[in-house]
Amino acid sequence: MALQRGQRILRFPDGFLWGTASSSFQCEGGNTNSQWHRWEESGHILTGETSGDACNWWQEAERDFALAEQMENNALRLSIEWSRVEPAEGSWESAAIDRYRAMLTDLRRRHIKPLVTLHHFTDPLWFADRGGFAKVENIRYFVRYVSYVVEQLQDLCDFWITINEPNIYAVLGYLLGSYPPGEHDLLRAMRVLRNLMQAHVEAFYAISRLQPQSQIGYCLHYRLFDPASPLLPLDRAAASLQDTFFNWATMQAGEIGTFPFPLNLLFAPVKHAAGARDFHGVNYYTRDMVRFDAARPAEMFGRRFALPGAPRNDPGLADNFGEIYPPGLYRVLKSVYQRTRGNKPLYITENGFSDTLDDRRPSAILEHLAMVHRAIREGIPVRGYLHWTLVDNFEWLEGWNVRFGLIELDQYTQKRTPRISASMFGEICRANAITETIVTRYAPEAMESIFGVAQQESSRLSV
Ligand code: BGC
Repeated sequence: MALQRGQRILRFPDGFLWGTASSSFQCEGGNTNSQWHRWEESGHILTGETSGDACNWWQEAERDFALAEQMENNALRLSIEWSRVEPAEGSWESAAIDRYRAMLTDLRRRHIKPLVTLHHFTDPLWFADRGGFAKVENIRYFVRYVSYVVEQLQDLCDFWITINEPNIYAVLGYLLGSYPPGEHDLLRAMRVLRNLMQAHVEAFYAISRLQPQSQIGYCLHYRLFDPASPLLPLDRAAASLQDTFFNWATMQAGEIGTFPFPLNLLFAPVKHAAGARDFHGVNYYTRDMVRFDAARPAEMFGRRFALPGAPRNDPGLADNFGEIYPPGLYRVLKSVYQRTRGNKPLYITENGFSDTLDDRRPSAILEHLAMVHRAIREGIPVRGYLHWTLVDNFEWLEGWNVRFGLIELDQYTQKRTPRISASMFGEICRANAITETIVTRYAPEAMESIFGVAQQESSRLSV
């Protein structure tokens, strides 16, 4: 790409991974054998919809992989649907593996590195009906499935994400009740979280044995919780409790095997956790302001809301993602780095915005990437950025009502229309950089926040 003399630029390291992230249930269509299908069938999606054909990836994911190739993405994160691979306990569906082999082969042909998630919220019905991850003895089923998939696909993939967001799966499914199985039980949520972390560790060792040179990790959902009034001790306490419980308790259990006090008194340690990952997967979307509220014990006595007047995501029906808060990504990267003493590289395995009109996404992407660049400049080893998501896909809480795609999808006709953000993301990936030209073209209003972040240290190019 031609750069003008003296143009400001935020250049990313050579080999940086650029791409998008997605999951099987949200994209493939025709997934009728998991607990999420039972959940949507019983009317739990806020719009009343069901995922149906979703983005039809089971038939033609390749059409969207071609769009990723046009954006010069060099990575793409997708997940394997356990309920397709092992539709009944111990019975393996080779046709499903064939389809995944075709997808991964297609990606590699396009010079797109597949990053494969082995569990992204969905469980086969048979597994859910045996108590799922609430029962420690069920972990072996997960590890057996993981081993089978890795044996079958290791010639096509060497980057595995064992479990997506154990904290979301446990908290939304077992404490807040908005994901299946819809429970409201703190102790069970914690037990599930502990078992998921143990499942990760056991999967890590199983994969390492089969494919020693592969990269294996899990990703957590990090959310910022800031006190509504920093001067009020109760607001501070509620925010800090939410932060510890949601973000760092899980991370600590994954790092050293024990939950922080007092959770460590109630839950067994995660055995052999230390060292059981090759990278930290960071999913970051938003921050909440937290006001003390004695009536909300399940939410650690905090009422959460988006900072009034701040740029925000489309609220949709669930209003789950409020503020668009770029500094949060830097804060999360820095905390993960510091709390893990910089022991492993970091990948942003998800970051995205619900913005149907695509009028905030371009600046939001640029401003978040400027924060990633800042982290890298400070020596934090961030190795890749995967945007959530490539094509509008079926959202867990509210179906088609909120839109996270770089590419718009008409779910009725399956017609794709790239949003402006897709052109911009393509230019960034091609340049491996954010340039003034890109900012001028797509979000001139963000110029100062982007290059201001870099202050005087951003390199001035002479070409
Ligand atoms: C999940 C995605 C989801 C996104 C937006 C993340 O927590 O991993 O599957 O689509 O949030 O809701």
